[in-house]
Amino acid sequence: MKKNIEIVRPKNSQLSNIEQEVREGLTKPLPEIPCKYFYDDRGSQLFDQITQLQEYYQTRTELSIIQRIASNVVDRFKPEELVELGSGVGLKIRTVLSEMSLRGLLKKCTFFDINETFLVQSLAELVEIYPQLRARGIIADFIHHLDLIERSGKQLILFFAGTIGNLHPKDEVPTFLQRLAKQVLPSDGLLIGIDLVKDVRRLEEAYNDAKGVTAAFNLNILNVINNRLDANFNTEEFEHVAFYDTDNNWIEMRLRALCDTRVDIAGCDLSLVFREGEEIKTEISCKYTRESFEETVLKSGLKVTNWYTDDEKLFALCQLEVF
Ligand code: SAH
Ligand code: AVI
Repeated sequence: MKKNIEIVRPKNSQLSNIEQEVREGLTKPLPEIPCKYFYDDRGSQLFDQITQLQEYYQTRTELSIIQRIASNVVDRFKPEELVELGSGVGLKIRTVLSEMSLRGLLKKCTFFDINETFLVQSLAELVEIYPQLRARGIIADFIHHLDLIERSGKQLILFFAGTIGNLHPKDEVPTFLQRLAKQVLPSDGLLIGIDLVKDVRRLEEAYNDAKGVTAAFNLNILNVINNRLDANFNTEEFEHVAFYDTDNNWIEMRLRALCDTRVDIAGCDLSLVFREGEEIKTEISCKYTRESFEETVLKSGLKVTNWYTDDEKLFALCQLEVF
């Protein structure tokens, strides 16, 4: 590891309590697996492939907005330090880093992700480009460990991709935003990428792509459970399902059993029977309007100070500050 890269993990604990979370999830009336378990190395690679799909408008649209606004945002906040939550391949952030570097501001960059391989690789690539950069990697769950973020100067925190949509809008987002607000000083900035409510067909196509990459990404979560919890899910006995729930304004992804099947999960000391047609919920991906997001932000201690979108209003970058 290069000298200017520091890697930190939560103390005392494992990254997360996978046994307990999977046991609790799979024994619910509609069984669930938390979506953060998509992101082993194969899942992270598959997500990267999703971002390049024609149907998946989110990534290219968000990048075009970032490219348009980066210089204004940097001029507004003059950050010395960038923090990206759920950084993945860490490519979009480079547009912002470059604006900071041009102004001689760039000192430190922190990537926060649950996937170690992608985090270490993306930080290594950054210090190749900016050898003087202090790079910090936090391998942790951003729901529980935001306090691992350390400050050494004015910060701009980025949460791209619409990943906030993967958190439950009532049960998770308010607490998450309150915790995030505690990390933000009045001189700091926060940019959150948000996928917007739109035509249902466009949304459903983005999660049911013709090449089947999203299906492979969804099914891979069963391999993650097999590997981490010594389970015996047969991925061929399940199929990918993704639909837009108009009551909740979210895409829901599920895995549906194609036949009656029994699964043993040794790591949870659990055996389950799935009847043909029974489903496991694996992800929600909430779609917001400016109004619904502003309402969600209320009481978090943050206020929306700018809302940037594309011509088609597919995606938005929401700028927030503490008050
Ligand atoms: N920012 C990148 C990647 C987005 S994909 C982009 O814009 O393309 C979502 C990322 O969040 C993945 O890299 C995944 O590993 C990470 N992630 C998902 N849930 C997480 C959690 N609970 N804690 C930390 N990282 C998480
Ligand atoms: C990471 N996140 C914003 C993606 C989304 O669109 O909700 C994950 C994803 N799931 C299926 N395709 C992409």
